[in-house]
Amino acid sequence: MRLLDLFCGAGGAAMGYHRAGFEVVGVDIKPQPHYPFEFHQGDATTWPLDGFDAIHASPPCQGYSRMRHLPWLAGKEYPMLLATTWSRLEASGVPWVIENVEDAPMPYSVVLCGWTLGLPLYRHRRFGASFLMWQLPHRRHEHVIAHGRRNVSQRRQAGSGTMGVLPSRTQKAGLPVSIQGHSGPPVQVAREAMGIDWMTRDELTQAIPPAYTQWIGERLAEHIASEPVAGLATADPLGTDTLRAGSFSPGASVVPE
Ligand SMILES: C[S@@+](CC[C@H](N)C(=O)[O-])C[C@H]1O[C@@H](n2cnc3c(N)ncnc32)[C@H](O)[C@@H]1O
Repeated sequence: MRLLDLFCGAGGAAMGYHRAGFEVVGVDIKPQPHYPFEFHQGDATTWPLDGFDAIHASPPCQGYSRMRHLPWLAGKEYPMLLATTWSRLEASGVPWVIENVEDAPMPYSVVLCGWTLGLPLYRHRRFGASFLMWQLPHRRHEHVIAHGRRNVSQRRQAGSGTMGVLPSRTQKAGLPVSIQGHSGPPVQVAREAMGIDWMTRDELTQAIPPAYTQWIGERLAEHIASEPVAGLATADPLGTDTLRAGSFSPGASVVPE
């Protein structure tokens, strides 16, 4: 099974699909010397979609992230490629997945968190797809994270939003971290938390942990294996064609009409 990985970055998502059994080909507008699979530099908004069994896309997320409201980022403009990418994938005729930050306007989507998937990581990412996926239960965040590290001294106030900074030597293996922007744990701790050992710090801040797309990729592979053979009846007993992403636009109401 061949999967096209649009907006591929340094290949966090790609590695998860690879582990789920896909042969992955990546496309990014910038050179990606650390991408671990076949790579092409190009514009994902116009890259040909033919010849693949499935497509994944991770359009830039900065314009949809709550971080854009930070005072020092206010007024900054970002490419808003979610809606056009969504439309292209819908028209592709093959199963697809699109990923973005939790705040992105993506109805009929699921949110994955590293802590739920067994990683020492609080990192929410939203996934929409052309096929039915169930939302995993979310494991409660039990620790206060400050500047990307667990704040041991404030543990009793977990959930209160208490902030603080821990020196890196107090970071204990296996405790959760979060990875974003220019704050965060030492790069080696971040790599271990993400399950990625081949990226720089900047690449890590952009990446999806492979565990997320391995889980998604296994659902995608099941879906491909269950697709009706051409020429046979194509009944839709669950009504998923109505529910699937095709019947609405990103940003529109989440309530089907
Ligand atoms: C969120 S990152 C992707 C992270 C990647 N999925 C991973 O898991 O490592 C978004 C990527 O989109 C790329 N990008 C932005 N605009 C693009 C375009 N028009 N065509 C292709 N890539 C683009 C950026 O260079 C960046 O690497």
